[in-house]
Amino acid sequence: MKNTQKKSDPIREQVTLTIQQLLRSLPPATKISKTRARTIIARYTAILEGNFIPWMAAAYVATSSKTVKEIAFNNLRDEISQNHPGMLRKFAISANSVPTDKDYLAVHSGIEKVRWFVGELQGVEILIMLAFFENFIALFMPHLAEIAKKQGSKEFEYTDVHGVLDISHSDELFRAAQAEMQTHKGYKVTHASFKGVKLLSHLLASVFA
Ligand SMILES: [Fe+2]
Repeated sequence: MKNTQKKSDPIREQVTLTIQQLLRSLPPATKISKTRARTIIARYTAILEGNFIPWMAAAYVATSSKTVKEIAFNNLRDEISQNHPGMLRKFAISANSVPTDKDYLAVHSGIEKVRWFVGELQGVEILIMLAFFENFIALFMPHLAEIAKKQGSKEFEYTDVHGVLDISHSDELFRAAQAEMQTHKGYKVTHASFKGVKLLSHLLASVFA
């Protein structure tokens, strides 16, 4: 029954398509070189570590629905109370993939674009981007764990937690996007609704290229 509901959701359909394209662009873990594995882990860390919480906080700030605020609040509470940025940092350290200045510079302009988009405080669009991000993260975790193993890592708390947690988080965010849309009478899903998804998926694709 759940699947039928998901199929009729145009936002979820578009997001799923984007995620599939992204995952297809990833080199298979078995064929990836150690240098490339390090780069992917380091740049993924550079994108996520310091930005996920502010972007989720923006969803809280930019929306008006009570349901949405509750969803964003619970997500933030998990992130902060379980120290997810620290969990990711530990993961990168263990995989010998701590981001260098070169890694930060490589993702800088893409991150800036996402930050300015988030700064526009368009609640629905931010929620769609975050639903995409959480869904992508959950599906990317097995691959990330595999390439970290290649790097000799034995620290998998981050990938274990996010594979499971982010599926439920992304479901909540899809629900949040629907709820926020209902507070904007006459809101129509258009190309513009996916602006954040486009910016963030381009940024992630640049890391995998
Ligand atoms: Fe997290």
